[in-house]
Amino acid sequence: MLAAWHFHIEISSKCTLRCPRCPRQEVPKGLVNTELSLNFFKRNFTPEFIQQNLEKITFCGDDGDPIYAHDLIEVIEYIKSVKPVEFVIVTNGSYKSIDWWQRLGAVLDEGDSVHFSIDGYNQNSNNIYRVNSNYDSILQGMRTLRNASECLIVWAAIAFKFNEHALDEMKIIAYNNGADIFQITLSTKFGSVYESYGKDDPLEPSTQFVSSSYRFERQHLPLTSRARSERVHQINLDLWNSVDKTDIVPLCEIGNKGLYINSRGILYPCCWVANRYNHNSEWHEIAKQFDLNKNLLQNVLNDNFWQTEFRQFKWQECKTKCNSKVVNQEYATSW
Ligand SMILES: C[S@@+](CC[C@H](N)C(=O)[O-])C[C@H]1O[C@@H](n2cnc3c(N)ncnc32)[C@H](O)[C@@H]1O
Ligand code: SF4
Ligand code: SF4
Repeated sequence: MLAAWHFHIEISSKCTLRCPRCPRQEVPKGLVNTELSLNFFKRNFTPEFIQQNLEKITFCGDDGDPIYAHDLIEVIEYIKSVKPVEFVIVTNGSYKSIDWWQRLGAVLDEGDSVHFSIDGYNQNSNNIYRVNSNYDSILQGMRTLRNASECLIVWAAIAFKFNEHALDEMKIIAYNNGADIFQITLSTKFGSVYESYGKDDPLEPSTQFVSSSYRFERQHLPLTSRARSERVHQINLDLWNSVDKTDIVPLCEIGNKGLYINSRGILYPCCWVANRYNHNSEWHEIAKQFDLNKNLLQNVLNDNFWQTEFRQFKWQECKTKCNSKVVNQEYATSW
């Protein structure tokens, strides 16, 4: 059964940045800049659905950034008016006003988190990968949020050649601007892993900062005593303990990654099969029937498909990301 306690939602596929290895840059064909409205949420996430299922929403996405959705704050307000659902927001953090961050802070509490994706130690270095970002506005946003909310603030850096020598410096900047956790992502999107990035990949850091597995790896360094919310962790753990661990251990039935809704309102079992790379073309056909503008979320989740054909887990992403050889407790209970 799909784990409907956690949804990963691309509330906006719009973004002001042009990070070169983001799908919006790598697969420009088929990119649609759009967003989900408060009405979309009210129609699909009814008070009954929220009460019976929902524990957590992660606003991130394959192609865009949540802070550019006009209704982001109103959607959080609406859902929290029904139930104290946990929110995680993953953002590049650029170009929003002080007033906007104050209003966001007012609807987030100590159970929520905001991840700022910042790979640089100043305007120029951050713009090497986060092309068109604005460093001052990001740090202003982080400080404003710190003063406005008890939420957990994570500085999420990807290790690159241009920043690996400066990670300690970035950690200090993170602390000084109100972050609670300094997270380092070891990416796989480098020339030594994928030939397409070239043998002399200018972004590739030294080997210790490249993921040694097929997926991104994350290290967390606490900067303050504020910690991640444990409220929903037990649900995740119980599902990990009870799920059938045969050839495939489907994370979509455990819930740590969240069932995915893209900015066009189409439901997928995870963001991996939704990504607009060619190997997912079969999923893009399948998912047409799970358009939440035409069918309600509860009806889509009740579709017979999820108990039948889907459970063959025959797609490339299932065989790699959710292969029992690679799934362990840590992987199945973290984002
Ligand atoms: C497409 S972004 C959407 C959220 C938001 N726009 C952001 O960048 O944080 C989803 C995630 O991909 C990450 N990402 C982007 N480029 C990456 C890369 N080359 N390697 C690993 N993760 C990457 C972002 O940092 C973010 O955590
Ligand atoms: S900020 Fe996020 S969505 Fe925007 S281009 Fe970069 S990785 Fe992609
Ligand atoms: S890759 Fe397949 S099994 Fe894994 S979460 Fe996605 S749909 Fe489920």
